[in-house]
Amino acid sequence: MKNVVCLLGSPRPKGNSAMMAQALCQSAAVAGAQVTTFALNSLTYRGCQGCLACKKEAEACVLNDGLTPMLEAVRACDVLVLATPVYFGEVTSQLKGFIDRTFAYLKPNYPRLPRGERSRLAPGKTLVFIIAQGHPREDLFTDIFPRYQYLLNWQGFTKSHLLRACAIYDQGAVAARPELLAAAQALGRELAQPTAPD
Ligand SMILES: Cc1cc2nc3c(=O)[nH]c(=O)nc-3n(C[C@H](O)[C@H](O)[C@H](O)COP(=O)(O)O)c2cc1C
Repeated sequence: MKNVVCLLGSPRPKGNSAMMAQALCQSAAVAGAQVTTFALNSLTYRGCQGCLACKKEAEACVLNDGLTPMLEAVRACDVLVLATPVYFGEVTSQLKGFIDRTFAYLKPNYPRLPRGERSRLAPGKTLVFIIAQGHPREDLFTDIFPRYQYLLNWQGFTKSHLLRACAIYDQGAVAARPELLAAAQALGRELAQPTAPD
């Protein structure tokens, strides 16, 4: 059974990125996956403190806060779904706070290790990025996904997918774009398969 962990980065619980994530997760669950969803905005946590304890005396992040159980859940997942709106050309601060804390997944000597050996996580995990942006220009903010795809590859996310919605602004506006929700559902079904393709 595939283990899917979904992190909602928008402060809007019924927002566009959350609706796309829900479409993916519901269809993955129907297809047999175990799905756990966390709303980052409802948790209390700090960003990475740069203490480097995870590179010296600890195997995991030494901060003990709202992200602690989530960081453990991600260790065990097969598929990680990161859903976010574009805020000022970036992921939300809620999601960035989580991404910085994944620094603890990297081994102490990671810069000197080959790409495939840098992570404390088991290799072969799948990353799904869901991005909602208000701006209609599809050539804007295209840098977000490849940057995190590149960096999270070091953590063991060697397969990745992007679901992106442009020109949606108001909460729930994605409901009027059934093709986007259908794409999310199709990906959820695909990723729930025991032998999901890359
Ligand atoms: C603080 C803030 C900053 C935003 N910055 C951008 C931006 O840089 N580019 C853009 O296209 N849309 C921007 N938006 C619009 C959101 O990306 C858009 O409303 C999106 O659909 C929200 O997703 P959600 O419903 O999942 O929260 C911004 C919205 C807010 C509230």
